[in-house]
Amino acid sequence: MFRRLSFLVFIFTSALSLEILFSEDNETIVSPSSIFELGLFKDGTRWYLGIWFKGFPRKVVWTGNRESPLNSARGYIQISMSSGIQLFNESGYMTWKINLTRTAAADAPLTASLSDTGNLIVSYNNNNPNGILWQSFDEPGDVLLPGMDLGMGLSSGRFYYYRETAYQYYIWEFSTKMYRVDPIYYGTISLPRATTINYHATLTLLATGSLSLSEWTSEDTEWKEMLIAPSDTCDKYATCGANTNTYCSMNPLKSCECFPGFRPLRGNCVRKSPVTCSDDDGFQLLKNMKLPETDSWTILYEGVGLEECKERCLKTCNCTAFANTDMPISGWSCVMWTVSLADTRRYSTNRGQNLYVRVAGLAMAIRW
Ligand SMILES: *[C@@H]1O[C@H](CO)[C@@H](O)[C@H](O)[C@H]1NC(C)=O
Ligand SMILES: *[C@@H]1O[C@H](CO)[C@@H](O)[C@H](O)[C@H]1NC(C)=O
Ligand SMILES: *[C@@H]1O[C@H](CO)[C@@H](O)[C@H](O)[C@H]1NC(C)=O
Ligand SMILES: *[C@@H]1O[C@H](CO)[C@@H](O)[C@H](O)[C@H]1NC(C)=O
Repeated sequence: MFRRLSFLVFIFTSALSLEILFSEDNETIVSPSSIFELGLFKDGTRWYLGIWFKGFPRKVVWTGNRESPLNSARGYIQISMSSGIQLFNESGYMTWKINLTRTAAADAPLTASLSDTGNLIVSYNNNNPNGILWQSFDEPGDVLLPGMDLGMGLSSGRFYYYRETAYQYYIWEFSTKMYRVDPIYYGTISLPRATTINYHATLTLLATGSLSLSEWTSEDTEWKEMLIAPSDTCDKYATCGANTNTYCSMNPLKSCECFPGFRPLRGNCVRKSPVTCSDDDGFQLLKNMKLPETDSWTILYEGVGLEECKERCLKTCNCTAFANTDMPISGWSCVMWTVSLADTRRYSTNRGQNLYVRVAGLAMAIRW
């Protein structure tokens, strides 16, 4: 299924183009520590340009000519400043093309290299970081690798995984939001750990629209798969409706429960008593929560701890809930929701985070 690439690089200093030939020789493009390999692989009867983990078990992480496969394992790639990256079949027809992201001065020779992170990089001036003209990390398909960022771009498939704001990632089916990935996984932009010789991980958007984390360690003989979204019916986007003041719980299979301080009324939940915005208000802790969706009304205080966060929420009359959560850049931070608490759920397993929901003094008195 996998074919090693014979890799002949011609650097034409005049034409400044670079050619990668696929032929019968066995030279290969492998990353410096032999973690990744670039070549043609066969899927069904056709051949695709791809990058895969070189070790066993192999796993394709990037496919170039997904829509326009080759009929044979022969062909060549041409890379030039003016025409970008072009894949030709064995009869010399250009079957796939991608533009370089940047162009550079015409007097530096191009180089193509495959990094140990699985990134195919076209650059000039010998991998000068400022000299990157195109990288496969900028064109992810259905697989994310550690270090790959997710753009705001779209894909042409049925499902796509999309970053809406810095911390919110969604899986869409055509134009419908299906799942919001739990912000606890916002690490998905960087995955749990970096790729090393002894640890590989990928995040894959499956054809079913689910997001799967695969991990492999050198002690394992197989990839371990873990479904990240959806994990159950409560994960479906806004499954308990909008502005209902409910959260989804898997108790017993799926139910929409009122937030603390609310009572059920005609399918929604309403406050038992109004919050007074005084020191009488308090908070009730909900554990193992998928934190509510954030919106433009959500307030973030970076580097603010639990007690201070609580004080700030109390003083902000329209603050409905807060969480003290670990953010990748700012560390422990205070997140305050001011309008509704949307797309929130409770996990039945020991997962998720603590959410402190504001309750009126009277509601607390009734409760305790
Ligand atoms: C290619 O591989 C075959 C079989 O593994 C080997 O016999 C041959 O010498 C190799 N050719 C080159 C150019 O390395
Ligand atoms: C190369 O592509 C052209 C145009 O699609 C096609 O007619 C030709 O048969 C292809 N050659 C091979 C060997 O697949
Ligand atoms: C690639 O560049 C050409 C020429 O600048 C442009 O016409 C074409 O739209 C570009 N293609 C993409 C996919 O951006
Ligand atoms: C909530 O209150 C703050 C000031 O305390 C205000 O800036 C913000 O606009 C209010 N949010 C909404 C949704 O009314």
